[in-house]
This record gives sequence, structure tokens and C-alpha cells, in this order.
Amino acid sequence: MQYRSLGKTGLKVSEVGMGTWQLANDPNMWVGADLKESLKCLYEYVEQGGNFIDTAWVYGYSDDEPERHPSEELIGKFLKESGKRDKVVLATKVAPKNWHWPAWSKDKISDCFPNDHIEKQVDDSLRSLGVEVIDLVQFHVWHDNWANEDGWKETIQKIIKSGKVKHWGISINDYQPSNCLKTLDTGLISTVQFIFNIFHQKPTEKLLPYAKRNNIGLISRVPLDEGGLAGKFTKKTKFPKGDFRGRYFGGERLNELVVRINKLKKLLGDSVETLPELALRYILSFDAVSAVIPGMRKLEHVRANTAVSDKGKLSAELMKELKKHAWERNFYAPNAADPSMKSVGYIEK
Ligand SMILES: NC(=O)c1ccc[n+]([C@@H]2O[C@H](COP(=O)([O-])OP(=O)(O)OC[C@H]3O[C@@H](n4cnc5c(N)ncnc54)[C@H](OP(=O)(O)O)[C@@H]3O)[C@@H](O)[C@H]2O)c1
Repeated sequence: MQYRSLGKTGLKVSEVGMGTWQLANDPNMWVGADLKESLKCLYEYVEQGGNFIDTAWVYGYSDDEPERHPSEELIGKFLKESGKRDKVVLATKVAPKNWHWPAWSKDKISDCFPNDHIEKQVDDSLRSLGVEVIDLVQFHVWHDNWANEDGWKETIQKIIKSGKVKHWGISINDYQPSNCLKTLDTGLISTVQFIFNIFHQKPTEKLLPYAKRNNIGLISRVPLDEGGLAGKFTKKTKFPKGDFRGRYFGGERLNELVVRINKLKKLLGDSVETLPELALRYILSFDAVSAVIPGMRKLEHVRANTAVSDKGKLSAELMKELKKHAWERNFYAPNAADPSMKSVGYIEK
């Protein structure tokens, strides 16, 4: 496993981090996790040299048990049982109070992240993870309109001073990779979590160069396009009831995915053997990226994905070829609650 700097935090994280949205299921989003295997995945991930775990207050949340935070709790169980707290860089997220995912264009920060809400969620996360300090807390949604607001700035500095959190980051809106640059200019944010994969290459235009110039840690989420880039789905794939991927790959998207995956398969050979490897190495070929965080809840995935790190960057020739495989889509259209997300214009041009 290779390690990279997480921007200006001074932390070194394994290039392959562990995404945990699906680790303990997530009502109406992810189903099918086997919690015993999920726990084993955490052990295996660290055994393979992984040291960067990304979770969130909301992962696994259910209205029936609003006090529970299943993904954080399972990670907490692992840390307690294994005694590995000191070996792991822990990142979690504060959920928006108004429950808008991602942030709507007209939202005020006082609706999403009032100061007492930020403080309460940090305390909840400390409790569920069973730790005294969290290395990185990220705002789970963000809008650059909030760059000049004072409340969040004061609150995060107060929380850092209290010793509960070491660094703050933002997890930005899907398909809007520049919707954070004014906020980064404040100097208070150490990391950005963003969608980046072979299909969504837009972040290479502004976000990556900005982050490199300004030493911002970049955490690449959804690297496998929710499993699409892993190449397992066929035109006949049926997603389990309650699994959001039925919507994500709805309409004609599944058919188009299969056509595109067949084209990508032609690029495999001796130098890159599998599609997940191609997808992860594509992202890690950019120096500006600190870590890629594939969601992992199966042992075979942990082993395959952690092994990718030592295989190095892709050739310049292959990177040039992969540019042609970009596929910008708006997952939120046509069912988005926020009208601005329904339009093609929601996707950054
Ligand atoms: N707004 C936000 O802040 C936000 C949003 C999304 C995600 N995230 C974070 O980013 C992480 C990654 O995103 P994601 O999990 O949504 O998407 P992803 O990493 O693109 O896809 C994860 C899924 O791909 C499949 N997979 C993983 N490794 C595989 C392999 N080697 N071979 C075949 N299939 C494989 C697994 O499906 P099965 O488990 O079904 O087999 C896994 O659940 C999340 O876990 C979360 O930590 C943050």
C-alpha cells in the first residue's frame, strides 16, 4: 500500500481509503450488507495497509431509530475490539439539518448547518465511533454561496480548539466540482470530497489544479460509479428492492452503461487486468488526489481494491485514451426535489 499527504493536514493516508456508506446498510439506499462480513472487511482493510476510513453521521440512519448511526457504530466496534484507533485516520460527516442532498441552490447555511446542529452532530459522532477525537469532519453537503458566512467559520474553529476534531473538510455537490472554490479561499477547509471517476472527469479542469496549488487534500468518492465501473452489471441486472441503484441506473442508463463498459473492457490486458483496477488506478494517476475511497463491504473487494495501490499509475497513452470515455449524467433528473437539479444546467459546464 502506498501513502499520500492529505493536503495541509500533515496526515498521511493510504491511497486506497475505505468508503463505508453501505457497510451497515442504509435504508432506501443500500441493502444486502452482512454485518459480520462488514466487520471482517474493516480488519482486512487495515491488515492490507489501509489507514483511511470515511464514514458519516447519516450512514445507515433510519427514522425508526434516529439515535443510531450504524456505519459509525460498526467502525467504533472495530476500533474498540482491535485496538487500532491509533493506526487509522478517521473521517466522518455532519449531515444537513434540512436533509437536502446535495445542497439546494437557494438553501441558507442557517437551514443546513446552524451552529448548535454542527456541535451536536460532532458529539453524536464521537459517541458512535467511541473515540475522543476525530481526524477529519466534513460538511456532508456544501454550497459556495456560504463562503462569506461567519457562523460556520467560528463554530469549526471553536470545535478544533476544544480538541474534538482535528481538521475540517467539505463534501461537495455531485457534478459541480467548482462549487467550493470560494470557500477553499478562506483557508479554513483542509479537504474536499468529490465525485471523480472515468465517467465524471470534470474535476480535472478546475478542482484538481486548484487543490494542487493550494495543498487541499482531495478525497475521490464514487470511484466505481456505484459499482457500474466494476463491470458486473448486465442489461438484465435487477437491483434489490430498496437499493437506490435501481434509480441510479434507471431508464436507459443501464443499457448505456453496458455499452460503455464493453468499450472499456477492450482496454484490459497485461498492464491492467480488471475494470475495478482500471477505475481506481485512473484516479490515482492524478497526483492532486490524496485518496480514493471505494465503498467496500465484501472481503473480496477489500483485497482486490487495496492491492491496486502498488500497481502504480496508468501509462500516459492509456490516460489519453480514457479521456474519450467521459460520460456526464445528472442522476437527480428528472426526479429531483430541487427544481434547479432537474435541468441539464445543474451539471457544471
Ligand atoms: N455525498 C457524499 O459525501 C458521499 C456520497 C456517496 C459516497 N460517499 C463516500 O464515498 C464512498 C464511495 O462511494 P460509493 O460507495 O457510493 O460508490 P463506489 O465506491 O463507486 O461503489 C461501491 C460499490 O461498488 C462495488 N464494488 C466495490 N469494490 C468492488 C470490486 N473490486 N469489484 C466489484 N464491485 C466492487 C460494491 O458493490 P456491492 O457492495 O453491492 O457488491 C460497492 O458497494 C462511500 O462508501 C462513502 O464513504 C460520500
